[in-house]
Amino acid sequence: MKTHAPTLIKLPYLVLLDLTSAHLDYVEQFLCDKVTYLPSLLDLCIKYELLTTVTNNFTNESMRRHCGQLKRLHASSTIHVDKLHHYFPLL
Ligand SMILES: *[C@@H]1O[C@H](CO)[C@@H](O)[C@H](O)[C@H]1NC(C)=O
Ligand SMILES: *[C@@H]1O[C@H](CO)[C@@H](O)[C@H](O)[C@H]1NC(C)=O
Repeated sequence: MKTHAPTLIKLPYLVLLDLTSAHLDYVEQFLCDKVTYLPSLLDLCIKYELLTTVTNNFTNESMRRHCGQLKRLHASSTIHVDKLHHYFPLL
């Protein structure tokens, strides 16, 4: 059993998260639902390539919660949303 679970970072009112110039490790932490609690998040700004990397091509389950609640995704390149529907159902 884990005795030192990381403290959940709670940002209950955060609506927009801009990770455009954030480092990969930081993006990974911020999007992981075991690290952060972002119940109001609706908008995410991020480099698309970084997003594919941290989500492991939109398969990582621990980032799916935050991605699944997004209403808008502001990315650096054109995204074929239809292919990402399983991960971003509200886009
Ligand atoms: C993600 O998918 C792309 C294209 O389908 C592939 O080239 C790449 O290797 C994949 N990356 C990972 C981490 O699975
Ligand atoms: C998903 O991402 C989390 C947080 O970065 C990581 O700890 C976990 O190993 C990843 N899971 C998979 C299946 O890649």
